[in-house]
Amino acid sequence: MICPTLNGWTMKDILEKLDDRRAQARLGGGQVRIDAQHARGKLTARERIELLMDHGSFEEFDMFVQHRSTDFGMEKTKIPGDGVVTGWGTVNGRTVFVFAKDFTVFGGSLSETHAQKINKIQDMALKMRAPIIGLFDAGGARIQEGVAALGGYGEVFRRNVIASGVIPQISVILGPCAGGDVYSPAMTDFIFMVRDRSYMFVTGPDVVKTVTNETVTAEELGGAKVHTSKSSVADGAWDNDVEALLQVRRLIDFLPANNTDGAPHWPSFDTADRVDLSLDTLVPENPNKPYDMKELIQKTVDEGDFFEIQESFAKNILTGFGRMEGRTVGIVANQPMVLAGVLDSDASRKAARFVRFCDAFEIPIVTFVDVPGFLPGTAQEYGGLIKHGAKLLFAYGEASVPLITVITRKAFGGAYDVMASKHLGGDINFAWPTAQIAVMGAKGAVEIIFRSDIGDSDAIAAKTKDYEERFLSPFVAAERGYIDEVIMPHSTRRRIARGLAMLATKKPERPWKKHDNIPL
Ligand code: HXC
Repeated sequence: MICPTLNGWTMKDILEKLDDRRAQARLGGGQVRIDAQHARGKLTARERIELLMDHGSFEEFDMFVQHRSTDFGMEKTKIPGDGVVTGWGTVNGRTVFVFAKDFTVFGGSLSETHAQKINKIQDMALKMRAPIIGLFDAGGARIQEGVAALGGYGEVFRRNVIASGVIPQISVILGPCAGGDVYSPAMTDFIFMVRDRSYMFVTGPDVVKTVTNETVTAEELGGAKVHTSKSSVADGAWDNDVEALLQVRRLIDFLPANNTDGAPHWPSFDTADRVDLSLDTLVPENPNKPYDMKELIQKTVDEGDFFEIQESFAKNILTGFGRMEGRTVGIVANQPMVLAGVLDSDASRKAARFVRFCDAFEIPIVTFVDVPGFLPGTAQEYGGLIKHGAKLLFAYGEASVPLITVITRKAFGGAYDVMASKHLGGDINFAWPTAQIAVMGAKGAVEIIFRSDIGDSDAIAAKTKDYEERFLSPFVAAERGYIDEVIMPHSTRRRIARGLAMLATKKPERPWKKHDNIPL
């Protein structure tokens, strides 16, 4: 029987028609362009989403949205979805929102309607207080749309700003990311790239050649290597789409859904009171000999699982996420293996941004300290070391999350204050018996205080020894209560776990302000 309300179509026809329309939309820019995408070693937008989300959990929005442009003959080329796939799904059961640029449709370029699709997802993510992930592979503003595309970018940017500090925002760059496309990622919390296949720049090699006469390739200008090791625009890079997306899933597992829910609690097979006797010999007897601070981090956190952020930039400081008793902690640690763990402008900026992320999202911070001071020199001073160092001071000083600090060896000068000291608001400050908390190292101190004895090597040696015995220990600080407890290295995990459990109810009082004025 034919139903009159279905215009002569049977229900079967109607369902088949929907299926056809969906299948056509899922093809994006068509099989030829999909093949070209694969030939470049890249996945399509939908394949990427499938890998990112739990199997079968993705629900797409706005599959049939098309652009409304009529300039340059655009009315003849309308492709359902308009170059971006949007929707939501789950990662290990937790809701996340996603938009993925579809390079097979107008090079993934952003039109007015394309921007509106992203805006809808941004608004939903904020309303549901769930993370949003953007997958980028696009040629910037839809050139045929001109100012309408610029307006669209502005709408995306404004939403990035409003959501900042409320929900985690993550950007993954899996192909070109140029022009207007770079600024939305730059305002999100984390940017990840794929090596040799993705690049980010405001203006491409051709414009660079015209304006500055420099000849550079896209990779040299804005590849993953540049942005993870030089510019620090990106927080990490992996070899291909699959690895990148799986690592983003791993990161999501560390993050809270928003700034009030707290980090997820995952079952842990590691006991809180596990001791590690090998830590008792981690710090070498020779104070100038380096050791790997990553070993301490891995031996402290649950199952040794440490997700490092900005691994290839300012390697003299380590930042990343781990878990204690199944709950996320942010780790900041000087790395004696690189530049003796000194604080310079890059290390200060890197750690400050990480501390602020943790504080915004109520993630407790554990700080491991072995720092000989700030890096001297004109390069640093001219580069604004004062302002950059102040960023880290400021970030720790404003942090209201639980702060636990462990000084393993050197904590000299201003850097002692900066690294989550008691004075800045550290809640529990431990020192290993090998700690040296002082204004500076013995040699430098003696040469200043006893300048008149400099010619007398015996006198200087004796005074250096005196200084070392008196000041290069944790006890002068402990006598003043600047250190709460001098602990056995092997008990570090247990001490931190107990401290975090006690600090879980921390509620500091701060005066009202609109916002602070961090030294940018
Ligand atoms: C419309 C675009 C496009 C764009 C690419 N395409 N970029 N269409 N607007 N911005 C289309 C191409 O015409 C082509 O269509 C298809 O996408 C694939 O592009 P190819 O050039 O063939 O691919 P490839 O060789 O890989 O080069 C990729 C690319 C290049 C490097 C991204 O396409 C490129 O340089 N695009 C222009 C980048 C740009 O200048 N964008 C505007 C930035 S200005 P067909 O039909 O041939 O397959 C901007 C200002 C905003 O963004 C500022 C806001 C703050």
